[in-house]
Amino acid sequence: MQGTLLTLLGLLPVFINAQLSGSVGPLVDFATKARNKTCDVTDYGAVADGETDIADALLSAWGDCAVGGLVYIPPGNYSMKTAIELKHGQSSAIQLDGIISRGADLAYQMILVRDADDFEFFSGNSKGAMQGYGYEYLQSGEYGVRFFRFQDVTNFSVHGFAAIDSPSYYFVFDTCSNGEIYNILVRGIVIGATDAFDIWGENIWVHDIEVTNGDECVTVKSPSTNMLIENIYCNLSGGTAIGSLGTSTDISNIHYRNLYMNTADACYLKTNNGNGTVSNIIWEDVIVHGGPYPLTLNEAWGSDSGSIGVQLKNLTFKNWHGENAANSRPTIRLECDADVPCYDITIENVNLWTDDGDYVYWSCQNAYGSGACLAEADSTADLATYNTVVTITATPSYSTRTMASDLTANPPSDSPFTIPPMPTSFFPGATPVSKLLHLSAAGGL
Ligand SMILES: *[C@@H]1O[C@H](CO)[C@@H](O)[C@H](O)[C@H]1NC(C)=O
Ligand SMILES: *[C@@H]1O[C@H](CO)[C@@H](O)[C@H](O)[C@H]1NC(C)=O
Ligand SMILES: *[C@@H]1O[C@H](CO)[C@@H](O)[C@H](O)[C@H]1NC(C)=O
Ligand SMILES: *[C@@H]1O[C@H](CO)[C@@H](O)[C@H](O)[C@H]1NC(C)=O
Ligand SMILES: *[C@@H]1O[C@H](CO)[C@@H](O)[C@H](O)[C@H]1NC(C)=O
Ligand SMILES: *[C@@H]1O[C@H](CO)[C@@H](O)[C@H](O)[C@H]1NC(C)=O
Repeated sequence: MQGTLLTLLGLLPVFINAQLSGSVGPLVDFATKARNKTCDVTDYGAVADGETDIADALLSAWGDCAVGGLVYIPPGNYSMKTAIELKHGQSSAIQLDGIISRGADLAYQMILVRDADDFEFFSGNSKGAMQGYGYEYLQSGEYGVRFFRFQDVTNFSVHGFAAIDSPSYYFVFDTCSNGEIYNILVRGIVIGATDAFDIWGENIWVHDIEVTNGDECVTVKSPSTNMLIENIYCNLSGGTAIGSLGTSTDISNIHYRNLYMNTADACYLKTNNGNGTVSNIIWEDVIVHGGPYPLTLNEAWGSDSGSIGVQLKNLTFKNWHGENAANSRPTIRLECDADVPCYDITIENVNLWTDDGDYVYWSCQNAYGSGACLAEADSTADLATYNTVVTITATPSYSTRTMASDLTANPPSDSPFTIPPMPTSFFPGATPVSKLLHLSAAGGL
């Protein structure tokens, strides 16, 4: 009963913020799909013995349920020894209530979902998980398979499970639209090239996400438009960046809000030349504790991608509080390319201090707008190049709330991770937008 009620609630059209361009999520709820046809992987040869390869069973179940049905992976410990591709889903769902562990050396990604419409990948009992045993590679500086790639998936949601210790990236959403991604826990080793969410596409709502890793937390890539990203807890991770950006960049209408950064960076927008535009972006209500580059536009990052530079315009940074750990870098860095000065930048109520000393500094180059060290200009004809560094000695009112589970010690990288329970909050004081599911059967039926 409860499951049905939640399902119905989940089906209400979601059009939550002007930043989104329409409703997001699957068109038909999972209970309806399950009622039409349920394909339980254990009826197709899957065995929860932590040994038998689940791949063939999952593919066969998908074959029968990809159109109009629900593939059910019941509680239990499954091993995956073959990477799989789930193609051409049409109004279907996959309910992951068990744990899928990587059981072999695999290539590309464990699960590729592509060309699907009206699709849902979720845990019904909020105990589903992927376990990558990434430490087996990462402890010696090597990388293995990624977890998920969703490619050309529309009208979808992905929610309610944990993605633990990937041998490489966790989630890539490549050219997806009308999506909702929420209530997901990512935890892995603090090392580079372990991006948690790399997303590009349009009309996507990402909310209530917790990430502990060593690279990008929730990152928007080009081309992208109309995204709302909120209640994001980045723990020891690279943070919420945009980019890196190259030629033909096209990113607009992105709203980040309620970002909690424990030793992570809230905005790192990085390019080196390239072309195209990034415009109409808001970063609002941000808490940063110890991020090395808390607020950074850097158009001289990495290698030169050719062309004249990406135009950045209409970027707003509002209601920020926090501090960096080492004071060797600016707390506010707005460094734009001399060939394409940035404009309409707004820095409003941004309070960033340091744990390391009695001053901070801000750096502005070729950046126009209001606040911090930005130069002002009446029109785009007046955007001359300049470079300034300002030292700030007055302590702002920067201190703010913390999360109970903040710890700073890196997790061990030489043993398997325990799969933690799903968190119940992803931003200090905030309740997740959608409750975790507690279904006891396929589709909650
Ligand atoms: C799952 O199976 C693997 C491989 O046998 C084992 O290492 C792991 O401890 C099992 N996990 C659980 C939660 O049973
Ligand atoms: C129900 O499932 C069958 C496959 O078993 C599929 O052919 C049919 O289109 C589905 N119906 C709906 C309404 O999705
Ligand atoms: C996605 O949903 C919208 C309605 O919200 C519909 O118009 C569209 O055809 C659906 N499928 C694709 C592939 O966009
Ligand atoms: C960006 O640069 C590429 C290659 O240098 C060029 O083909 C493309 O036309 C440029 N696009 C824009 C929007 O200037
Ligand atoms: C600037 O961006 C905001 C937020 O995306 C948007 O509401 C506003 O219309 C944009 N302004 C201009 C001049 O495009
Ligand atoms: C943050 O990272 C530390 C170190 O891995 C870990 O012990 C702690 O549980 C993490 N907190 C959350 C909420 O993930």
